Amino acid sequence: MAHEHSHDGHDHAEVDEEHWAEYLAEFEKAGEICKKAKEKMLTVAKPGVKLIDLAEGIEAHILELGGKPAFPVNLSANNRAAHYTPAADDATVISEKDLLKIDFGVHLDGCIVDNSVTVDFSGENGKLVEAAKEALANALGMMKAGVNTADVGKVIEETVKKRGFKPIENLCGHSIMPWQLHAGVEVPNVGNHGGVPLEEGMVYAVEPFVSTGEGRVKDDPDFCEIYSLSEPKSVRLPASRKVLDLVIEEYQTLPFARRWLQEVPMLSMALSDLQRQGVLHGYNLLREAPGTLISQAETSVIIEEDGVKVLV
Ligand code: CO
Repeated sequence: MAHEHSHDGHDHAEVDEEHWAEYLAEFEKAGEICKKAKEKMLTVAKPGVKLIDLAEGIEAHILELGGKPAFPVNLSANNRAAHYTPAADDATVISEKDLLKIDFGVHLDGCIVDNSVTVDFSGENGKLVEAAKEALANALGMMKAGVNTADVGKVIEETVKKRGFKPIENLCGHSIMPWQLHAGVEVPNVGNHGGVPLEEGMVYAVEPFVSTGEGRVKDDPDFCEIYSLSEPKSVRLPASRKVLDLVIEEYQTLPFARRWLQEVPMLSMALSDLQRQGVLHGYNLLREAPGTLISQAETSVIIEEDGVKVLV
């Protein structure tokens, strides 16, 4: 799932060094589940299928395989780049013209693997899809311990521009830590970006976005279906307390969908109350202008001394 570029610095979260090897084994197992879910997903995603059925189908399959969805399945079509998960009553059906980014993650005890595939149902956007895949492959090909993230961004940018498109400059890949999908380090999609060296043994998601437009996404304030806990504090409204308790118990700091809590009475009021108080962060839809097309390719890796281990 995409991370919106911020200027908050690059602090890595604390590493539990004693248990790190065990965590990495969990990351690898989550990757195996993610691979299976991806194979099945590619057989299900077809024109005529409702977005809500596809999202819920992938999420249910992850559970059947023994994992948990690390965040709601993002199904962002065409000029939408990220953070579109269908609401429970979303009637949208995949069209034969859609360029659909299917971005989902699996976690095992908080060890998260994040990945995305772009499906070109019209068959007319092969070059755009290939540009994102090639940018990802070139990035992975140069990543190893000590390589600077700014240089990874530069390779992505050059690959995409050579193909006549633009990388999306304000969306990035990200370091991943247990229970933290966006753990502080950004893996940029452009070169002019203050970088840090990749650390051996750490997990990163790399996700080039390729655009036919200006290469910069904007928030859509009218669409927000994904939230995550940002700062727990005591809240007075009973509905808000109920939501907060459920989130802490089920998702902790991982993103969740409004539809996952649809049984909670007065849910909308509680979500806006919690967002207003800074307890929850809302992930608005990120998009470019209508008519723009955007592709994305994403995988997660463990950094090794002389390369990467690809998890999915
Ligand atoms: Co991601």
